[in-house]
Amino acid sequence: MNHHPDHHLGRRRFLGLSVATAAAAALAACTNTQGAPGLTERVLPTDPLVADYEARRAFSGKTVTQNLTTGSLQATVAGKPVTTWGYNGGISAPTIRATAGDRLQVALANQLKDPTSIHWHGLALRNDQDGVPNVTQDPVSAGTGFTYDFRLPHPGTYWYHSHVEMQRERALYGALIIEDPAEQLIYDRDWVIVLDDWMDGITGTPDEVLKELSGGMSGGSMGMGMKHMLMGSRSDFLGGDAGDVSYPYHLFNSKAPDEADTLAATAGQVIRLRIINAAGDTAYRVGIPGQKLTLTHTDGFPVQHQDVDAVVLGMGERIDAIITVKDGFTPVVALPEGKTGQALGFISTGTGKQPLPATLPNKLEGTVVDGGQLKAAPDVVLPAKTPDRTHELHLTGGMEKYDWGINGNRFDMDKPFQNAFDIKAGERVEVKFINDTTMWHPMHLHGHTFQVGDGGARKDTVIVRPKQTVTVVFDADNPGQWLTHCHNAYHAERGMMGVFSYIK
Ligand code: C2O
Ligand code: CU
Repeated sequence: MNHHPDHHLGRRRFLGLSVATAAAAALAACTNTQGAPGLTERVLPTDPLVADYEARRAFSGKTVTQNLTTGSLQATVAGKPVTTWGYNGGISAPTIRATAGDRLQVALANQLKDPTSIHWHGLALRNDQDGVPNVTQDPVSAGTGFTYDFRLPHPGTYWYHSHVEMQRERALYGALIIEDPAEQLIYDRDWVIVLDDWMDGITGTPDEVLKELSGGMSGGSMGMGMKHMLMGSRSDFLGGDAGDVSYPYHLFNSKAPDEADTLAATAGQVIRLRIINAAGDTAYRVGIPGQKLTLTHTDGFPVQHQDVDAVVLGMGERIDAIITVKDGFTPVVALPEGKTGQALGFISTGTGKQPLPATLPNKLEGTVVDGGQLKAAPDVVLPAKTPDRTHELHLTGGMEKYDWGINGNRFDMDKPFQNAFDIKAGERVEVKFINDTTMWHPMHLHGHTFQVGDGGARKDTVIVRPKQTVTVVFDADNPGQWLTHCHNAYHAERGMMGVFSYIK
């Protein structure tokens, strides 16, 4: 390997802003991962091109504002007091609502003792607002702030979360709903459903879990003091091992089943469920026993409607589905794939009796799909084009050493461009996620919505099963530096991350 200049940068110093532009260009100039010699000039977040592209995005003239203050807080989970980290003093962060074309301005105030950031998951936004410390901005240090400010390009169900270490495994995440000014779907109202696996303040902290997992299955830790690691979690749907971590609770809008969140509705109303999997290590199988869901969108983009008995969401994925309300209590059940427990909410017309959680089915079967198996709606199918470039991303590592990576490389936040996947604006890029491991991974790309396979759904996060390959394509139409990673919080933190890097 050739000399790489990234080591000139101190830890947590941002490449683009902490150095003068010329110096930044020099720093970014390096040998690419393909081993071809020569200078690689990267389109950094500070590049005027990023602002140019933003200026060309549609703007409605309307600005939506929100204040978000991070901090340590006291909350109640399943009746138990917990201390966690969240936004605006509560375990449920504000749901931000805006319309495509609007400008979103979010003033973040960081009252944690640690640095933080906010990532806008799934949005094709301007690169310098993407919220990835060391890649798109300086970390927002303790006691300081940062105002995110960008245009919202596409309607749909999105979410936001901290992109620092294990912070989103606490309560540092919320829903971001972008309405469509030309909405095609007919429904009476929507219901945002945020699912999360919860352990913070109950059985430990996410950092403790990461520490335990990082010790791997080998050596002294095996059999002694294994408190959080989950063994033998299996899901046929996910092709084997379903998860690494055991959680005491699965939350539905921050609530445990005994205190289930309930939507008041009237019989016959059509409800659009906007389901978001914000979990760290759990896929959820979501359904309504005895009633079909009509799937309409995944990861914000429309799909050819499909009626199913249940839908599986990997971490980071979203699904929109419509249902018609029946009289009485309708349970919306989310079962953790390969794990025990349930997350639960109700739609209620105010009649009948609320079923006890324990009386509800602990299986959802029949027609079950995940978002990666859906077909894109015709108006969002990418036009056919021969790829200009293909990148193969072998997903590597395992439980033994907990050494997750991409192509055998473990991502180093201090050297983000070390094994970068170079692309150029205007290209059709093909990406093969090749899973060499014995576990599934929900693979996510920042700043773009790829298309799965041939005419498959437009997505930003897709389930890749063990020993399988998922091929996706996207148009490189948003210059900058964009992370790609497994959305398992622990896999990502241990190194299953990389950068798609626009070069000049
Ligand atoms: Cu929701 Cu980099 O991720
Ligand atoms: Cu993973």
